[in-house]
Amino acid sequence: MNDIAIRTDDLRCDFGTIRAIQNLFLEVPKGKIFGFLGPNGAGKTTTIHLLLGLLEPTGGRAEVLGFDTRTHATEIRSQTGALLEHSGLYERLSAECNLEFYGRIWHMPSDERQTRMKELLAPMGLWERRKEKVGGWSHGMKQKLAIARTLLHRPQLIFLDEPTQGLDPIAASVLRDDLAGLATREGVTVFLSTHNLSEAEKLCHQVAIIRRGQLLAVDSPENLRVKQSKPHMEIHGRGFSEFLLAALRARPGVVKVEYLDNRLIIDLVDATDTAQLVSLVVSSGAQVEEVRRSDASLEEVFLTLMEEQ
Ligand SMILES: Nc1ncnc2c1ncn2[C@@H]1O[C@H](COP(=O)(O)OP(=O)(O)OP(=O)(O)O)[C@@H](O)[C@H]1O
Ligand SMILES: [Mg+2]
Repeated sequence: MNDIAIRTDDLRCDFGTIRAIQNLFLEVPKGKIFGFLGPNGAGKTTTIHLLLGLLEPTGGRAEVLGFDTRTHATEIRSQTGALLEHSGLYERLSAECNLEFYGRIWHMPSDERQTRMKELLAPMGLWERRKEKVGGWSHGMKQKLAIARTLLHRPQLIFLDEPTQGLDPIAASVLRDDLAGLATREGVTVFLSTHNLSEAEKLCHQVAIIRRGQLLAVDSPENLRVKQSKPHMEIHGRGFSEFLLAALRARPGVVKVEYLDNRLIIDLVDATDTAQLVSLVVSSGAQVEEVRRSDASLEEVFLTLMEEQ
């Protein structure tokens, strides 16, 4: 029980006739980065609001750090940090003044505020720049500061709703590295929503995939790939005939064959003998430049799950 940070039991939330969340059973272990993945309108933000006690569930229940969200929202909000749609930063104040302000709200003593600020800002390269007004900062720097803000009062758990949204790929990658470093150093549980699959794959120990308020899968990114993926093979080259495509499709173990930009993409069942397929391609007279066999990425797993619904 004590190693679970969040538990939901048949959680449900309706907005009129819209079922934003239904039959949600989740367990988020402490100390992990948990990714909540889903397309627009899947119910990610709604779930975070439910977990913070900002919304009343229509049915079921949720516990955060052992507290019931219906009856102990104040305790939950004081022991967690959250970065929701708005960063909560004051653009006309310096980074230091922003954190000072939040530190006071959390009743942190002055010397602790300074120590903590340095602890959080220095590894992100923002300590030297703390006197600057936040309004002049890049979006990536503001997001880092906003994450530092959520961690200021040493919460055990933070909620981040799409923390890298709107960042360019480099800024997003830097933020992810900083976030991973912080989470490890602080031992904090992170509940992070995203629709960026490679982000979830790089950052999260566990991911839940949700669509239209329904949970489709929960596992480590690696297990999801293994369990859900159909292995596939790519053959790069030229001279792939329609006849060859038909012959490949007829082979046992071949699920699907597509021809795209000088490559054949062949979906396989697990134990297919790929060497035989390659020799079939070669003997058809096609010129093969490269053959690759790989398991699906999390993105492919995600798309397959979406298609299945
Ligand atoms: N306050 C509200 N009133 C009415 N409907 C709402 C409200 N909040 C959310 N919804 C509906 O609930 C569903 C889930 O919305 P939610 O914002 O949780 O999705 P999301 O996964 O966060 O999407 P996005 O990736 O776009 O942020 C949507 O159909 C949305 O229209
Ligand atoms: Mg959202």
